[in-house]
Amino acid sequence: MTAHTDAIPFDSAFAQDLHARYAQLREAGPVHRLISDSGLPVWVLTRYSDARAMLTDPRLSKDAQAIFRLILDRFASESERQDSEDGRFAGAGFDMHMLNMDPPDHTRLRKLVVQAFTARRIEALRPRIEQISDELLTAMAGEAEVDFLDAFAFPLPIRVICELLGIDESRRDDFRHWTNQLLDDIDGEASAQAAREMAQYLTELLAAKRQHPADDLLTALIEVSEDEDRLSETELISMVFLLLVAGHETTVNLIGNGVLALLTHPDQFAALRANPELVDGAVEEMLRFDGPLMHATFRFTTEPITVGDTVIPAGEFVWAGLAAANRDPEKFPEPEAFDITRDSHGHLAFGHGVHFCLGAPLARREAQIALRGLLAHFPDLQLATAPENLSRRNSSLIHGLQALPV
Ligand code: HEM
Repeated sequence: MTAHTDAIPFDSAFAQDLHARYAQLREAGPVHRLISDSGLPVWVLTRYSDARAMLTDPRLSKDAQAIFRLILDRFASESERQDSEDGRFAGAGFDMHMLNMDPPDHTRLRKLVVQAFTARRIEALRPRIEQISDELLTAMAGEAEVDFLDAFAFPLPIRVICELLGIDESRRDDFRHWTNQLLDDIDGEASAQAAREMAQYLTELLAAKRQHPADDLLTALIEVSEDEDRLSETELISMVFLLLVAGHETTVNLIGNGVLALLTHPDQFAALRANPELVDGAVEEMLRFDGPLMHATFRFTTEPITVGDTVIPAGEFVWAGLAAANRDPEKFPEPEAFDITRDSHGHLAFGHGVHFCLGAPLARREAQIALRGLLAHFPDLQLATAPENLSRRNSSLIHGLQALPV
């Protein structure tokens, strides 16, 4: 076998230079074994067809309990194993969500949230998203230079998701802090602390909503959970946690990376100005070209799987390299070109299969509204620094900028 089993560190240098590194790996072969910065070996698939196939392969599991036992068995010391309460995963109390489960549990949970997360609810949000976007852009006017992430890309999605769920806006800054701590690769104690604070807040919030129901997603989820007991309290808290975390940093960095692509491709920016009808296609191309996630989340093999001529044994962690797949020349001709008029259909930025992003319609709507607002308010927006001075976040999941001065 031509297995590329050399340990390649998946470190912050990789994150800083994601597309070039992934292009090298893709050319070298369809599957590579990387060492994540937590020391975990992970197999990464770099080609579009393999990544897409893996996301619907039932031999790849997302069962968090099983993943936890696997990590304990393979990587923990004897005393860590004994400390872990008979080998059950005891996270911060919000890990029992659908992205950590396989069918049929996944199917049950996803069905419940789909009932509450309706197209009607998202469409009803449109005027509010427009209003929030407009407020933020208006506040930017008059400033010679701002960090576009701080001034716009961060506050928009967090305000929208708080609005959707029915969360008090005064806690927005806490949410930004908590999700940052949870997603960036920093010390474990800081993220455990953030997780505890967030779980505590969510528990209080649910109690308050039970006393004062409102016309929001949280109340709808509580109603669904109380109806025939179909959602336990832990599952409910986990669901809200997932919606907050999955719906926040991703959208921030879709907008951030997307605006960077426009500013570094002035011909594309000009084409969009000349024809704002191209906005929807531009958002798809932004997702393909420089989406906010590097890979899909972990899966593990329950049986050996073959990729190219490499056999990945059972019990190994696998990542679909979304950022690599979306620039695979077999699928997207001239993949390094950012072209808002190309057919980006089929990109994997939102994943594929049963875990396909639940929030995709909302994320698309937010990014489209953001771009239209930007064209109207700042048709001449420019980068305030050379692109080489920009640095990326040190996260092994999120692909985003540290700052975007404009
Ligand atoms: C799942 C990407 C925004 C909620 C996923 C997955 C991807 C993804 C790749 C699948 C992960 C996997 O299979 O391992 C994105 C991107 C977004 C975005 C690129 C923005 C640009 C949102 C928003 C929400 C959301 C706004 C909710 C408000 C979810 C949920 C899941 C999910 C609940 C899990 C679905 C399941 O397990 O069935 N997302 N997401 N996402 N996303 Fe998103």
